[in-house]
Amino acid sequence: MTDLKTPPARIKVWDLPTRLFHWLLVVGIFSLWFTADVLGRLSLHIAIGYALLGLIVFRLVWGFIGSDTARFSHFVRGPRHIIQYLKKPDDTVTLGHNPLGALSVVALLLVIMVQLGTGLFANDQIYSEGPFSDYVSERTQDLLTYIHEINFYILLGLISLHLAAIAYHQLKKHEPLVRAMITGQRELKSGERVQNANLHFAGIIALVIALTLAVGAWYLLSYQPKLLAGWLGLH
Ligand code: HEM
Ligand code: HEM
Repeated sequence: MTDLKTPPARIKVWDLPTRLFHWLLVVGIFSLWFTADVLGRLSLHIAIGYALLGLIVFRLVWGFIGSDTARFSHFVRGPRHIIQYLKKPDDTVTLGHNPLGALSVVALLLVIMVQLGTGLFANDQIYSEGPFSDYVSERTQDLLTYIHEINFYILLGLISLHLAAIAYHQLKKHEPLVRAMITGQRELKSGERVQNANLHFAGIIALVIALTLAVGAWYLLSYQPKLLAGWLGLH
């Protein structure tokens, strides 16, 4: 259902599944760093990695069937839109990610996917290895483990940029983005006419998809890695 509003009003920006995804992602990435770099407990690291894999697959699905602001087709914009936004940021009315923010979201998701993908083949040369490491040569394992280590710094760089951009909007432009990512809502600005199609039953649909993906990812990776490797063309 579409919901067209004018000020003064509060408008829904983020649906619950997108907000849950975001804050679980933050907890997940922190835990992955903590279990690998501080605790050195790679078995726990790998288990949390499986859960995060389910979470990311869920976000990819939600990017096609979630409410407007969660959809990739709504926020992924070409260079023309990004340049236009950079020239006149205040003229662009966006509900959800602005064109530049969207670029950083896509970069964050891609770098996280590289981190998850390389983790599946990584090997610490002692006890722990990703579920697919035996399907590739030792050289490939070493290369992917190296990428897993280096890509983590790229991820840290993107997270720092992300936090700096949020701080700029929050403190300098007085836009309460963090509150919107927590409550899901924000005030409409004067002169703004925006709409967001809110999905009814979004929570239930999302819960069913998320649980199916999480259980599926955990079961396949823990008990059927050979079957999954076959599906992925690994021999
Ligand atoms: C591990 C650290 C973090 C990662 C990987 C991360 C990643 C992301 C991603 C992928 C999105 C897009 C959400 C979506 O459409 O699904 C996003 C949005 C957002 N994040 Fe984070 N985030 C992190 C930490 C934080 C923290 C600590 C805060 C708050 C202090 C924050 C505030 C926000 C806000 C406000 C948005 C919405 C931005 C907008 O209005 O366009 N993030 N983040
Ligand atoms: C976003 C997700 C992930 C993050 C942020 C992450 C982060 C890290 C970090 C910081 C290290 C330590 C690297 C070092 O020694 O310098 C590490 C090592 C490792 N990770 Fe991950 N990881 C992720 C996902 C995964 C997944 C899904 C798996 C496997 C299923 C995995 C398996 C491993 C293994 C086996 C190591 C040991 C490699 C070594 O000794 O260098 N990781 N990870």
